[in-house]
Amino acid sequence: MTITAPAQPQTATDATGLPAWFTHDRFGMFIHWGLYALPARHEWIKNREYITEDAYQKYFDHFDPDLFDAADWARRAREAGMKYVVLTTKHHEGFCLWDTALTDYKSTNTRFGRDIVREFVDAVRAEGLKVGFYHSLIDWHHPDFTIDGHHPRRNDGDAEIARLNEGRDMARYREYLHGQVEELLTDYGQIDYLFYDFSYREDDHHDVWGGKGRDDWGSEELLALTRRLQPGIIVNDRLDIPGDIVTPEQYQPDKPMELDGVQVPWEACQTLNGSWGYDRDNMNVKSVDLLVRMLADGVSNNGNMLLNIGPTGRGEFDGVSRATLDGMGTWMHQHGRSVYGAGPSSFVAPPNTVYTQRGNRLYLHLFAWPFEHVHLAGLAGKVEYAQLLNDASEIAFRSIDPSVRAITTGLGGQPAGTLTLTLPIQRPDVALPVVELFLEDDA
Ligand code: GLC
Repeated sequence: MTITAPAQPQTATDATGLPAWFTHDRFGMFIHWGLYALPARHEWIKNREYITEDAYQKYFDHFDPDLFDAADWARRAREAGMKYVVLTTKHHEGFCLWDTALTDYKSTNTRFGRDIVREFVDAVRAEGLKVGFYHSLIDWHHPDFTIDGHHPRRNDGDAEIARLNEGRDMARYREYLHGQVEELLTDYGQIDYLFYDFSYREDDHHDVWGGKGRDDWGSEELLALTRRLQPGIIVNDRLDIPGDIVTPEQYQPDKPMELDGVQVPWEACQTLNGSWGYDRDNMNVKSVDLLVRMLADGVSNNGNMLLNIGPTGRGEFDGVSRATLDGMGTWMHQHGRSVYGAGPSSFVAPPNTVYTQRGNRLYLHLFAWPFEHVHLAGLAGKVEYAQLLNDASEIAFRSIDPSVRAITTGLGGQPAGTLTLTLPIQRPDVALPVVELFLEDDA
């Protein structure tokens, strides 16, 4: 299935100075994959279950995702309508998905023996999608990463923690962190996006003892290194210093996001079921209808959606993920026009709807299907044509004389300037119906 998108400038920047592809493309795939796919009960399992290095080793020893096929992942992302894909190169557990020279704790040293990042990058590029990395600042495997309130060893008691922390040196860890980022941004061609994760300084409202932030990561230098190695890369905001975009996690901002009164580009990262890593028994799954509403809602507030998949320990997307992606793709196939290159509108949408706008096309997303009429404030005389987006079937519209009151036998009671659409009784059989309004040139 091909998702058609309006042509997009490759090198241009948008109004905020960001590479234009980001706010144009709107929809990306997050992939969380690591050893935690084997226990299959959340990517924080090492923390949640206080697992020691020795006990966690069994997942390294049995990591052998024989069904891994990066081309399949990338194709599914494209068919879902996603335009960029972001893979965890390393999550908090510390396991590296590429052939790093700086640790033995890497995929090429497992039975599987392959450089997953390499295969990922090649496959994503081959599908014409942008390439992104997620990289964990936190590392629960590295011997220099000091025990803190997030670490799996945090409950070992003061004496044991003091013993464990003796000789640990965050300066050495910092060197490792920067060295690995240098590898990732040097050896894999053009990388379009980097999602660092995450900072939790105690004095920045985190109730985690020993929390870490910009000084621990060497954030200024790390960001400078990132930009030097990959000019034009987009970097998120979790280094504890400002980045290019802000990254609300598992919530939907209810308005365009601002920093100090200025609108900022944002991307909500969302899960299918609340976990990022493969979580076998978690059935708290969002429906396609809900996810599509979240995507449209985000665009209407000037945001992107980065939707996560947690592949299994065999290396595949599970059935729920596949079905969800198929459903998203079916909707995007017909409705991509209301997403790609679209953003907020200055018109005020009626209840239970959101608008997105691209040039003189205004898109009305109907979260609930009304009986025949929708009243659009301020649009009288401004619409040239209207149609359902899924099948381009014409939608009739008119302005009702504002002097006619609602108590008469016909339609009335609408303020001046209102445009009234007449919808079919049958709701189109799509995840989220959209009316495309062609605005007059001077609207
Ligand atoms: C987090 C979590 C995590 C996930 C991420 C995605 O802060 O630690 O497991 O990778 O956010 O945004």
